[in-house]
Parts: sequence; structure tokens; C-alpha cells
Amino acid sequence: MCGITGYIGSRDAYPIVIKGLQRLEYRGYDSAGIMVYDGEKANVFKTKGKVADLEAIVTEANKKGTISIGHTRWATHGVPNDVNSHPHVSNSGNLTIVHNGIIENYDKIKKELVTRGYIFHSDTDSEVLVNLIEEVQKQEKCKLAKAVQLALNDVVGAYAIAVFDINDPKKIIAAKLGSPLAIGIGENNEEFFIASDASPFIEYTKNAIYLEDEELAVIKIGKEVEVRKVHDDSAVNPEVHALDLDLSQIEKEGFDHFMLKEIYEQPKAIKDTYRGRLLPNEGIIRMAGVEEYIERFKSADRIIIIACGTSWHAGLVAEYLFEDIARIPVEVEYASEFRYRNPIITERDVVIAISQSGETADSLAAIKMAKANGAYVFGVCNVVGSSIARESHSGAYTHAGPEIGVASTKAFTTQITLLTLIALKLGKEKGKISNSDFHAYLQNMELIPSKVEKLLEQDAKIKEIAAGFLETPSCLFLGRGYNFPVALEGALKLKEISYIHAEGYPAAEMKHGPIALIEDGYPVIVIAINKGHYDKVVSNIQEIKSRKGKIIAIVTEGDVIVKEMADHVIEIPEVDEALSPLLTTIPLQLLSYHVAVLRGCNVDQPRNLAKSVTVE
Ligand code: G6P
Repeated sequence: MCGITGYIGSRDAYPIVIKGLQRLEYRGYDSAGIMVYDGEKANVFKTKGKVADLEAIVTEANKKGTISIGHTRWATHGVPNDVNSHPHVSNSGNLTIVHNGIIENYDKIKKELVTRGYIFHSDTDSEVLVNLIEEVQKQEKCKLAKAVQLALNDVVGAYAIAVFDINDPKKIIAAKLGSPLAIGIGENNEEFFIASDASPFIEYTKNAIYLEDEELAVIKIGKEVEVRKVHDDSAVNPEVHALDLDLSQIEKEGFDHFMLKEIYEQPKAIKDTYRGRLLPNEGIIRMAGVEEYIERFKSADRIIIIACGTSWHAGLVAEYLFEDIARIPVEVEYASEFRYRNPIITERDVVIAISQSGETADSLAAIKMAKANGAYVFGVCNVVGSSIARESHSGAYTHAGPEIGVASTKAFTTQITLLTLIALKLGKEKGKISNSDFHAYLQNMELIPSKVEKLLEQDAKIKEIAAGFLETPSCLFLGRGYNFPVALEGALKLKEISYIHAEGYPAAEMKHGPIALIEDGYPVIVIAINKGHYDKVVSNIQEIKSRKGKIIAIVTEGDVIVKEMADHVIEIPEVDEALSPLLTTIPLQLLSYHVAVLRGCNVDQPRNLAKSVTVE
């Protein structure tokens, strides 16, 4: 987690780095810090809190300078306070570092450095790393790049770092292992940008190098970026990527929050996901990443889906899709559990890794393990060029565009869109779905974006329902079949941004425990569309009603039975059960959003969370 950014060139570095940190705040926002080199001194400011708190403490006089590095933190080692914030400075005061990642053997290194007289001010592993680099520099009498390389060979863990040496102030050294790092290249190599992703520098350059694991870059004004391998110092010829991000994608564009903007972007995002893949007129689904490995898919004994958080919920929807449409057995695994429980993996397994960021540490480690055991790995990622996308044998991007709100919305529906396409394609290839059903699905998929548009028109009504949640301490979300994972996702959304305890449950399981919670006015959100096991859900609603629970039901347009029983209903357009999660999710996202706003919560940056979890 954490975001790092930096600038070296001839412009004022401070505003560039501060703006960059704001764009990276989704990666963590416990504390923030900046170093600005004024030509003589490296001025460091850091504080607990957000980038806005940092801006408030930087004095005007210390904003001047053309070299800067900055950091926004999600605390791993040490509580989020001022001293533990980055940048960290070496004992001599010469070196400054910003670090995203974890140095696992920091304690041992720290003890050694203490015996050599080093003093530590913070509890962080990063302060240990910068002093280790200093010690190597002293011992080997070498330049910064060499010292960083040697020091990194001594550490175990993950890092994306930027290091600055006051004695060699025309360069910044960057390196990465596990955590992402992009270098933006200015015209004629006159300026460079360093960041955890490309968002901090897209208005300045469209050319970027993404460092690979174990690579170190010497970034020097006027010179091409020199990249070397950390373990053996061999030279690497880095690929320069052309960025296709634009500014509007990472700005709120009139919406109060990124989350709301991203909810509203879903009709387009879903379309972008299936564009060029879903071809109803030709009666086909085209997906190069699947076609290339079609025999592996067709002969798979089972599909194992690996993911975390919201992506795991998309995986659960996919379990219904793959089993129902393609008749392939599926297991859905939390990556963190899978990687540590000695799972049975064979060469006949297909692993699908789902990850918005493509950087989630547990998911990445799990797919490495699956690959090592001979499984074929297919990545479903949103961030182009991300670690999981690169680590997978093949895959497909969701093309949802940048998702900045920490609570995932459009990433979820686009993951489901993509997984639906795969399930349909495999169902067709394996002869498990009739031609007429296949064609009907293709056509119905194309109608989803306009149905989502229509659902969004109910925003004001959902806001009114949300007003009833102001004092609610706890609530339940129920669904069955395809909509059970949607209930889980609805509960996750509400708890992560409004801090109301919420639990998602399969509707029929309610009577095995959660029903004990229900009393007068206890809110239960039930997905009760007219497909699947409608009658059974109606019975579950009756069970809640007879205990005076308050029902908020998601029903199909025209429903009369549930409408009579429920306190509030939200209608969704008629849809196939298999495609229904793409619609039933939308009102639950809006409900959580409005509840959180009404309760005065920070919707885009909920407490303790981060969007990209690059530590296990
Ligand atoms: C974090 C985010 C969630 C996300 C999960 C998995 O917890 O806050 O929104 O679902 O990580 O992230 P991934 O990028 O792998 O989908």
C-alpha cells in the first residue's frame, strides 16, 4: 500500500508532487510527507493525516525547488504519527527515501546498524532501509545507485522506493520489487516523474516506463533512464509505454465524490468491457486471451477463482455462471487462505485471478503458487500492465477506466460482465448451451447498459430510503442463487463506507442464525427478483415481517406480491437471472453511498482502508 511520487526537472516540484500525492491517496491516507530540495538543503515536512494536512504545514519558503519526493501512507510498521511518516532521512541527513512496501528482515538489520552507532527516530522499516543504504555507501565508498543496489540485495520483502542524495542532486534512484513503480519521461529527458501509478503525471507526459520486479533505475536530468537488475547489476533495455489515460478519467467532473461518478459511469464501463468482444450480429464472443488457451479451458477439471474483497464477490457470481452455463466445476477462494493452506493444484486446473488493481499481494502470491504447480492462470484485471496481468499466462482487461473511490463499484460490474462473456463462450465451445439460449444472452447482454441507465434514475428515491439508516447500528442483506454474492457485496459496501455493521447472507440460511437479530424495525435488504427462487424468497420475507423487521426489497418491475409486504421497494428492469447481478448491484451501491454521505462519512477514503492492498 502507500503511494510514492517524485519529480526532477526544471519546474517547481512542490505543486506537482502534492497533486500527485492527492491522486495517489486511494493507496493509503494515514499520513503524508514531502521532501523538496532547494539547491542546498533537503527540506522535509511530514504529518499524520491526509495530503491536505501536509499542505497546511509546509512553509512558503520551503516550497521552492525543482526536485521533490513525496509519500502518502497506509501504516504497516508503526502507528500513523508524524515521525513514522515518510520521507525518512538517513543519520547523516544526506539521503532521503520514500518507500511503499515492507522490509521483512528490518529488525535484524536495525539491530546491526544500532551496533554501528545508528540512531532511529521512527518504528518504520523504511528508516532502516535508508540507513542501510547510507552504511553501504560509507563502507563501499560508492555512488548512490550502487549503494541502493547492494542494500536491496540484503533485504527481504517488497519495495517501490525513490531515494535522493543531497551530495549528488541531479538524480533520483528508484527501484521496485512487488510494489508498482512508473517513471514518466519528459521531453528530451529534461524532466522525469516517479509514481506508484501514472496518474500523477498524465498531464505532463504520455511516455512511461513501468519498472519490473528487481529493477533499479538511475533517473538523471538530461540522460536516458538507466535500468539495471538489482541482483546482478545487468543492464536492462526498458520498454517505453504510451499512456492512454486522460485527465477527465481521474477527476470528479462535477460529481461530489469519485464513488458516485464511478457508479454513474457503469453503463459506459460495461459497454467498454464487452466492446469488440460481444458480437450479437455475428453470433459470437471474441476473446483472444480465452481463444489462445481454449483447449486448457475445455479440458479443465475445474476452475479455481482467486481474489480478495469485492473481486472475490465477483468470483462468487462467476461460480454460478460457469457451473450453470458452461457446466464446469468451480471453487472460489480467498487468495490469502488459498496460498497458505497447501491446496491441491494440478496441471488440469484453470485458475482465474480477479483483481481490479492487479497488485493485490495475496492474489499475486496465490497465482505464482498456482503457476508453480502447473495450473494455467487467466487474469481478469482492470489496471493495464499491472503485476497480476503480467504474471498471468493470458487474460482480459475489464477496461472500466481508473477506479479511484476506495469502495469498488464499476470494477465489480465490469468484472461480472467479463466473466459472463467467458462463461457464455465456454458454454458454447463445450456444447453446454443451446444456440438459441446463447443468442438470446448475447442480445440481452447488449441491453444491460441501458437498463443500468434506467436504474440510475431511481437515485433520488434511494436517497430517501437511505435517510432511514441514519441511526441504524446493524442490518442484513439477503439474496439467493446469483444474488447471494450481490447480498454479500451490498453488505460490504455499506459497512466499508458508512461503518454500519452489515452482514450478507443466503436468504434461506437466515433461519439458521441471523433471524435472531430481527426485532421491531431491524432493516433487512432483500433481493427478490422474479427469477430463480422467487417464491422461497417471498417466504423468507414473510418470516422477517412476522418479526416486525423492516424490509427494503429489490424487485422486478411490475411486482405486486413483495410490494405489499415491503416497507420500500426498488424496481429493476426485467432481466435473465444470470445477468441480474449487473442490475441488482446498482441500487445497493447507491444506498450505501447515500447512507455514508448522510452520516457524514468520508465516502472516497473510508477509515483504515486502502484501494490497493500490496501487503499481505
Ligand atoms: C481492497 C479494496 C477493495 C478490493 C480489494 C481487492 O480491499 O478496498 O475494494 O475489492 O482490495 O482488490 P483488487 O484490486 O485485487 O480487486
